[in-house]
Amino acid sequence: MKVDVLVIGAGAAGLMCAIAAGQRGRSALVVDHANKPGKKILMSGGGRCNFTNLGVTPAQYLCANPHFAKSALARYTPADFIALVEKHRIAYHEKELGQLFCDESSKLIVRMLLDECAAAGAKVETSCAVERVRKTEEGFAVHTARGEVHAQSLVVASGGLSIPSMGATGFGYELARQFGHNVLPTRAGLVPLTLSGKHQERYQDLSGLALPQVETRVGKRRFRAGLLFTHRGVSGPSILQISSYWQPGDDLRIDLLPDQDAAGWLQAQRDTRPAMELKNVLADLLPRRLAQRLCELWFESRPMKQYRPAELDAIAAQLRDWPLVASGTEGYRTAEVTLGGVDTDGLSSSTMQSKLVPGLYFIGEVVDVTGWLGGYNFQWAWASGQAAGQAA
Ligand code: FDA
Repeated sequence: MKVDVLVIGAGAAGLMCAIAAGQRGRSALVVDHANKPGKKILMSGGGRCNFTNLGVTPAQYLCANPHFAKSALARYTPADFIALVEKHRIAYHEKELGQLFCDESSKLIVRMLLDECAAAGAKVETSCAVERVRKTEEGFAVHTARGEVHAQSLVVASGGLSIPSMGATGFGYELARQFGHNVLPTRAGLVPLTLSGKHQERYQDLSGLALPQVETRVGKRRFRAGLLFTHRGVSGPSILQISSYWQPGDDLRIDLLPDQDAAGWLQAQRDTRPAMELKNVLADLLPRRLAQRLCELWFESRPMKQYRPAELDAIAAQLRDWPLVASGTEGYRTAEVTLGGVDTDGLSSSTMQSKLVPGLYFIGEVVDVTGWLGGYNFQWAWASGQAAGQAA
């Protein structure tokens, strides 16, 4: 079988690329070893797919080359994807911080992409594993479970390593190496953090307890959002966001009261409620069980009138700068994304084409471009898919 463009991976990036290539009149085939296309889209955003973010800029992406994503993101914007969603009459809403979700189901986004593929003449074959790839004079010979496919252009959209149970493999990285590309070390991103030993024992029984707004900090990077105690550690959006910037050994700090003048508030409580114990006072600002635990661990709980002003200042400072000693992450099993991947030094930022092998492209999560939580990763998939689809 011969096609102009063969795309490996029927995820967000691969389907978008096939649509763009098909619309240019190129014959395009997408193959995926999974039994249905777009499995990660289906499970995304709690089943409602946070398909983009109104505030996308290159600053919300991690990449060894911070300039790499600029061109593709500028040429296919959130407005372009929203126009597609509206064309298919898919109802959506902004949840918070520019995050756009489907009103009904992620299934509608997959349906939309498949309908666009069909309209552009691009074919999608599932349950079709790719076994090996070899370069030929005209392009590439790709050995699949359904026989050999010859393609002028080969687009690798096989994603990262997160959620192996959904079909994630390291295939794209192996292919990149086969063709001489550098692959930067990978690790789990947007992932819960784990605690161990005494640090785990201290907070384990708080599992399920949620704080609506904290600020997590690693170095100069900071995120303000919710935090959730889990059985093995901590999660919630503020933790998932900072996890992409944290590595074992890094100093992680948490401001438990980011919107408060904690010191001023505690001094005022000392004057107005002198007989009340600190743990009960703190329970006005923090969940009661956490307030109690922090008092057990950090400050003994006494009636407010027994604290000197300097002691209250020290308590406030500690609440705003809690050093949380994480031991690791939950890993690829639960990570939303994979950091690292195909080094962008070897790719054209405008087309995603390999600088080493003409006709070879890498798009989506397999590339060393990783977005924040909040629709940024799909926007990268759409934008890099479009960029390659315009060129392949
Ligand atoms: P993706 O992983 O989607 O697709 C790769 C495809 O390649 C898969 O279908 C796989 O089966 C196939 N494949 C792999 N190896 C192969 C091989 N050897 N042969 C053939 N096929 C192969 N992002 C966001 O912006 N908003 C959100 O709401 C969410 N929510 C979310 C929830 C959860 C639980 C996860 C795990 C992730 C998210 N994400 C997200 C991240 C987002 O899903 C992710 O960034 C994109 O799906 C990446 O798109 P790709 O097309 O690059 O890879």
